[in-house]
Amino acid sequence: MEINGPGLSLAPALLLSLSLLLGEVAVGALKISGELRRARGADEASLARRASISGLIDRSDLTYLTNLTLGGSEYRCLIDTGSSDLWVAADVPNAKDTGKTASVNYAIGAANGPIKTAQLQFEGYTIENQAFIQATPDSNHAVNEGIIGLGPNSGSNVQQAFANSAGDAVLDRIFRQNTSTPNYLTILLGRSDDVSNLFPGDLTVGEVVSSYQNITSQPKLAVSQVSTPSGQHWQTLLDTNGIIGPDGQPIKVTSKNAPKDRLNVVFDSGFSLPQVPKPVADAIYARVPNATFINTSAGELWSLPCDVELNITFKFAGVSFPIHPVDTNMDDLAITDTAGNKICAGAFQPITTAASPNFDMILGMAFLRNAYLLINFGDFVDGASDKVGNPYIQLLPLTDPAQAHADFVKVRMNGVDETNFQLPRAPRYGGRR
Ligand SMILES: *[C@@H]1O[C@H](CO)[C@@H](O)[C@H](O)[C@H]1NC(C)=O
Ligand SMILES: *[C@@H]1O[C@H](CO)[C@@H](O)[C@H](O)[C@H]1NC(C)=O
Ligand SMILES: *[C@@H]1O[C@H](CO)[C@@H](O)[C@H](O)[C@H]1NC(C)=O
Ligand SMILES: *[C@@H]1O[C@H](CO)[C@@H](O)[C@H](O)[C@H]1NC(C)=O
Ligand SMILES: *[C@@H]1O[C@H](CO)[C@@H](O)[C@H](O)[C@H]1NC(C)=O
Ligand SMILES: *[C@@H]1O[C@H](CO)[C@@H](O)[C@H](O)[C@H]1NC(C)=O
Repeated sequence: MEINGPGLSLAPALLLSLSLLLGEVAVGALKISGELRRARGADEASLARRASISGLIDRSDLTYLTNLTLGGSEYRCLIDTGSSDLWVAADVPNAKDTGKTASVNYAIGAANGPIKTAQLQFEGYTIENQAFIQATPDSNHAVNEGIIGLGPNSGSNVQQAFANSAGDAVLDRIFRQNTSTPNYLTILLGRSDDVSNLFPGDLTVGEVVSSYQNITSQPKLAVSQVSTPSGQHWQTLLDTNGIIGPDGQPIKVTSKNAPKDRLNVVFDSGFSLPQVPKPVADAIYARVPNATFINTSAGELWSLPCDVELNITFKFAGVSFPIHPVDTNMDDLAITDTAGNKICAGAFQPITTAASPNFDMILGMAFLRNAYLLINFGDFVDGASDKVGNPYIQLLPLTDPAQAHADFVKVRMNGVDETNFQLPRAPRYGGRR
């Protein structure tokens, strides 16, 4: 796939996406077609360094898929907290037609087709008559694959077609059919070339990955609620001065909403590249010698030399989330310069396609590899009769900066630490040895 930059090409493997419902931007999901850049067979083995419950499939850190069974057949679906519908591209056996149709539009791509119902088996739960969209396999919809939307039910197009609980999204069905099931999901994303812990990832419903129990004692971040239910996402407020740039100083930001000094952030497991306000991307990358702002098939982003270590940190409720430098400066996008040399990409990309008045920023996979995520659905579950409480989000930091630095030196600098010579050093930088 050619991109618009001079002689730059981007592997077709990748990219990003998010769902757009009824003119309202929903976030999530990405459609991948074409071959993967690297063979990833080993990722699907049980590399259970962390206690795994279900296991995810990690494709080059650009998509995380889970196996589920519909009508007795197995499908692979991208796990997407940014959208709320289930679809698969297949002729699902033992499915009943409902006579209804639905479509979901993502930032890139769409899915549509008849709404059917079938028995669903997902994460150890069995749900009878789960409503889903049956898409037709084609070049953009790989056969036997799809997306499972894990966003709020109010954003589900299938649910809107029914206008009753028969059309509920998967998690609402799980939580309603046994009200003793705790109303939360958790997502732990691994890194495909993590030198110290090769682990593809995990998705759990109603339970926590055993080695990370302490996520339940992390601060509860209130879900910021938006006025249009169909535009609701799993979103919360970043702290004031909540992004620390590569020079150790807070990056100046202005939110579209009140309060102006706190960015409204959506967590989206279906979005490969986090989407940030342009000044934030510029503050991270523009300082890097030889960094270039380019057009790619995934939109505009900063490209930069692969061996530049950029440390950034996000803060929620006073807790710091350091980002592994391999996630800030990503080598998974297979971009080459005019001479055919590999260059890397700034994973924190200026937000454009996905822009919405309801939020400022979308933290996708490259952020989520650094934070174990718990989403408690609270009263958002359809028909929640007792007031179980407001929905909230909990995050547990996963990245140890010293280990991350050692990893970066190993994989990007051939083991020789040259970070001291990389960035132009302003006086404020002088605190380092
Ligand atoms: C998903 O299903 C495929 C095909 O049955 C299997 O090879 C793979 O191991 C499964 N992956 C996980 C994580 O369960
Ligand atoms: C309902 O959920 C609870 C808590 O997870 C579990 O102990 C119980 O066995 C479940 N009941 C049924 C009928 O599945
Ligand atoms: C949570 O538990 C893990 C594993 O025991 C530990 O490494 C980590 O420091 C703990 N984090 C917090 C915030 O308590
Ligand atoms: C910038 O690019 C030029 C030309 O390729 C190269 O000679 C120089 O070493 C690069 N500088 C850095 C800091 O990477
Ligand atoms: C990318 O392409 C668009 C449309 O041609 C153009 O408006 C924009 O300036 C380009 N951006 C860069 C960084 O070249
Ligand atoms: C990034 O952070 C690590 C760990 O704190 C530190 O050792 C390294 O020098 C930092 N790199 C840069 C370029 O600031």
